[in-house]
Amino acid sequence: MRILSGLQPSGRLHIGNFFGMMEPALKLQHEGDAYYFIADYHSLTSVHEGKALREYVRELAVDFLACGLDPDKCVFFRQSDVPEHCELSWILSTVTPMGLLERCHSYKDKIANGIKPSHGLFAYPVLMAADILIYDSDVVPVGRDQKQHVEVTRDIAIKINELYGEGLLKLPNPRIKEETAVVPGLDGQKMSKSYGNTIPLFDEPGSLKKKIMGIKTDSTPVEAPKAIEGSSILALYKLVASQSDYDTMVKDHLNGGVGYGDFKKRLLQGVTDYFAPFRTRRDEILADKGYVDKVLAQGAEKARAVARKTLARVRDAVGLG
Ligand code: ADP
Ligand code: TRP
Repeated sequence: MRILSGLQPSGRLHIGNFFGMMEPALKLQHEGDAYYFIADYHSLTSVHEGKALREYVRELAVDFLACGLDPDKCVFFRQSDVPEHCELSWILSTVTPMGLLERCHSYKDKIANGIKPSHGLFAYPVLMAADILIYDSDVVPVGRDQKQHVEVTRDIAIKINELYGEGLLKLPNPRIKEETAVVPGLDGQKMSKSYGNTIPLFDEPGSLKKKIMGIKTDSTPVEAPKAIEGSSILALYKLVASQSDYDTMVKDHLNGGVGYGDFKKRLLQGVTDYFAPFRTRRDEILADKGYVDKVLAQGAEKARAVARKTLARVRDAVGLG
């Protein structure tokens, strides 16, 4: 089973990224042949400062490795080290119906959030299709917001296969973990960089405390029972706490007598404890100069060998070269 997924280096990773995409991807690295990459070509659609992009790429590499990505188990690389993705993307774009891209929610959401509409932003799903198809991927672990892009990928692959021969491209399937498909942010909406409501994975302790203590709550008095439905504190606590600590928090909501401030403190402790081992690993990686470059260089070499083969097969089928 070939597994593939990517993350954009367009800002600090947050716990929505972790539980929605990274944790499932980290589990899958032990179950098949996994390819994970840093989607820097994609980030060019929103980051227009070279220095910043380079820093984000590095930070993402360090953070993903700190969270348990094992470069001996999977191929970890930077998208722009494999320029074959772009050539395949062009070939795919020639059969991609405009209507298919016009229906993509992510494009509309990004524009609504102030990202300038560009051809690259519109064509983003075609590049993503190339990322997936060039590795003959079977499974793509992502959060729910990326499901439509995997469906678009399948539609494009079906078109190519109809035109140039059945089986030329393999149809991938999204893998979405239902319990963490949408992790709520500090304001109860989906946690997202674009909404400024995130809990970063490796936040400074003071800043983390401020964010968690600032989670929006209603004005139910301390003595009264609190609503369980729609509580972001409970939803976030479920991700980081043991079952029994979570059950206790549910009981305390139902019985009343405990204030939101207390729940927030428990959540803060839960988040801090959960990510503490990753923080230690992160410090080790940062101290090991050259480690990240070495991992990415080895990953690029392995990924490129596979990508070249698929691209040669497609070039041959469409009549190029
Ligand atoms: P953001 O919305 O912060 O810009 P991205 O779009 O870069 O995040 O998402 C990267 C990955 O993390 C994707 O697979 C996405 O589905 C997942 N993801 C992002 N936010 C969440 C969330 N709040 N809950 C679950 N998964 C998420
Ligand atoms: N679009 C994805 C996101 O914003 C990142 C991405 C790019 C990706 N190419 C991919 C994810 C291929 C899975 C497979 O999160």
